[in-house]
Amino acid sequence: MDKKETMWDVCLRKNINRRSFLKSCVALTSIMGLNTDMVSKVVAAAEKNPLPVVIWLHGHECTGCDESFLRSGTPLTSDVVLNSIALEYSHALSAGAGEPFEAHLHDIMQQYAGKYILAVEGAAATAENGIYCMTGGKPFVTVLKEVAKNAAAIIEYGSCATSGGIQAAKPNPTGSVSIREIVGNSKPIVKVPGCPPIPEVMTGVVMHYALFGKLPPLDSEGRPKQFYGNRIHDTCYRRPFFDTGMFAENFDDAGAKAGWCLYKLGCRGPVTYNSCGNLRWWNGLSYPIQSGHGCIGCSNDHFWDEAPFYKRLPEYGPLLGDVDKIGAVAAGLTVAGVVAHGAMSAVQKSKRDAQKSDGKKVE
Ligand code: SF4
Ligand code: F3S
Repeated sequence: MDKKETMWDVCLRKNINRRSFLKSCVALTSIMGLNTDMVSKVVAAAEKNPLPVVIWLHGHECTGCDESFLRSGTPLTSDVVLNSIALEYSHALSAGAGEPFEAHLHDIMQQYAGKYILAVEGAAATAENGIYCMTGGKPFVTVLKEVAKNAAAIIEYGSCATSGGIQAAKPNPTGSVSIREIVGNSKPIVKVPGCPPIPEVMTGVVMHYALFGKLPPLDSEGRPKQFYGNRIHDTCYRRPFFDTGMFAENFDDAGAKAGWCLYKLGCRGPVTYNSCGNLRWWNGLSYPIQSGHGCIGCSNDHFWDEAPFYKRLPEYGPLLGDVDKIGAVAAGLTVAGVVAHGAMSAVQKSKRDAQKSDGKKVE
């Protein structure tokens, strides 16, 4: 692939018509969280800016983040990888292997020194000189330092990269750490946590850098604000049940079947920031809470060690006060509030449904 090509050049070369190109630009504008009045700027950048060269390394991990990325629906992963970026080296997606592949990595690092984006999936294993994670015959941590040295920007993709992930869970025998702990903050670096992250989030971050030459606005923890600005709890469709104190007590009780709040079953939605409730997976099909399981806080640092997954939050830390009283207080406020009328109707209907399916009264 000619690295000087732009997205528009690629479309011309592949006989992709102008309408399809513009549709891709609109989809990218949306996924980057930009207003529609930015579409013309996205089109101009896609016509003018060369495709960004991306080197994608895999460290100590399970490749689940890549599996997630491969299922990006809007835009399709194939559009991103084949038309929107110049993915020059990827342990999972490249066809090449062996010595020629490693030689290509070094060519690209030299040719595009200071210009390529480094995406990293997985933690860095540091114990015993990094021998627990090897790539191309070298410890991954060594390769990571080499490639990071001349990167223009670094993306930590997934919770293993952002905080060590399950490899770093106690007792962490491989000495796994986040990518930032190895490369420091000398380069622009962005955290995209999640186990795995939502694929469109990665696409949005890569394309923002590709089109505007800089990382998207970040929050105080270094995460892109447009994707990590809300708690799962803030966008949860089960929230009316939380607010009215209607909780599933077991995974097989009538409340669970009726879709009540999963807080008492350990849901971490109130302390977890991510876009799961908005974007969901597989083209908006579902996400953990919609599938009947509480959020386990997979985009929080060190979530494996935080606490047992199925314990409700207040049992191991202060959060929202006494959740058993939330229902009574909130229900009083709700009855008084016009806005909440719809939510009350929904939960009352659900309560009736739950009582019906269980054949008894559900409190
Ligand atoms: Fe949704 Fe969990 Fe919040 Fe309940 S506690 S409303 S299930 S995010
Ligand atoms: Fe992870 Fe919670 Fe979303 S477990 S996938 S952050 S709902």
